[in-house]
Amino acid sequence: MSDESTLPEELAEEIRTRVFGEGFIRLTQSLTRDGAPFRISLRPVRLKGEVFMQAEMCDNGRTQVRNLSDNAARKGLEDILRQPGKRDLHVISTAGDLHVRVTKKGKPLVSRGKPKATAGAEAPIIQDGHDHVKKQPLTSFDAVPLLRVLGLADNRGQIKPSMRGKYDQVNALLRAVEPLLPATAPTQFSVVDCGCGKAYLTLALHRYLVCAKGWRNVRILGIDKNESVIASAREMADALGIGDEVTFQVSMIESAEFPKEPDLVMSLHACDTATDDALIAAVKTKAAGILCVPCCQHELHHALEGGDAMRAVLRHGILRERLADLLTDTFRAQVLRICGYRARVMEFVSAEATGRNILIRAEKGVRPGLGEAVAEYEKLCDFWGVEPYIGKALAPRQQD
Ligand SMILES: C[S@@+](CC[C@H](N)C(=O)[O-])C[C@H]1O[C@@H](n2cnc3c(N)ncnc32)[C@H](O)[C@@H]1O
Repeated sequence: MSDESTLPEELAEEIRTRVFGEGFIRLTQSLTRDGAPFRISLRPVRLKGEVFMQAEMCDNGRTQVRNLSDNAARKGLEDILRQPGKRDLHVISTAGDLHVRVTKKGKPLVSRGKPKATAGAEAPIIQDGHDHVKKQPLTSFDAVPLLRVLGLADNRGQIKPSMRGKYDQVNALLRAVEPLLPATAPTQFSVVDCGCGKAYLTLALHRYLVCAKGWRNVRILGIDKNESVIASAREMADALGIGDEVTFQVSMIESAEFPKEPDLVMSLHACDTATDDALIAAVKTKAAGILCVPCCQHELHHALEGGDAMRAVLRHGILRERLADLLTDTFRAQVLRICGYRARVMEFVSAEATGRNILIRAEKGVRPGLGEAVAEYEKLCDFWGVEPYIGKALAPRQQD
């Protein structure tokens, strides 16, 4: 394939690496065809959660746009590289610009520019479907070693298509955690990740705080009941040389040993009431901040009553399930309020990235109108004929 390129192989390979590597923004090739201007450009776009290479062809004023799969994009690039004759080829990436002017005689004149210190130059591989370029937490530092160890990126540092959803989720969570972080570097910062699983978020948060923010003394404890995921999480922390700073416990969340007054307790998709166990532990250990993305929840599903007025809703399994999900998160946020946290519930990432995209973020230190909050909680329990797991553990009725 490379023999067919009219460019020297080394140069063609450099272009392939830039186009399919980390930080690629756009390639444009311009020439004159049959006396009229012809331009083709490639750029990565994300459409409905999937990443494509968008090819735009402008032929004598007529424009065609196609979104190409990885294979088709690779073939398209080879066609571009094989184009004979005089032309200009320009590749823009976060590594800097590459400009190739091919003369009439087919001689390539190459110039390379340094990375530009502009937002555009720091663009990630992924962009949304328009010219808008998003800066992601995982592109604000050299995250390639982390992404490779986590298995999110391939050997060239490019995000694997199958891991794109996870990459987006971790970026979204790192953005969501920002309001809970101190504005200036703390002397130490302690985090607990409950139900850490394969430790994507655990390790990414550590690298982000240390490498992007320049913080020292960041300690993160990952807790999971599954011995094998903890074994691989430990290996990954060691591979990154941070095994002393990011440690793991094989334990149920409810019986784990937490540090005192952690700065942040988080849980991402911990199953069912494990999310409540994380919130309960956070409140009991007086965590300053809480970030929690609930997962499947079964606790209230069959328990909801709601009287005659709700019968028409509860008859339908899917509506009952969704209502139970909403109410479970409502109870969680309300109990956190009662326990002295300012709690907010929001979507943290698009529903295409994960259906479980509700985030509860809470910050300690705010005393809401306690009596009113308890009264609201009691009315909710009475209306639905339930006492949720988190309520039983933290006894919010007695806090008035
Ligand atoms: C869906 S995975 C999510 C893992 C990780 N947080 C992520 O988002 O990639 C849920 C994890 O929670 C763990 N888990 C569930 N209930 C638990 C409990 N009560 N105590 C400790 N770990 C628990 C499971 O072993 C599993 O690894």
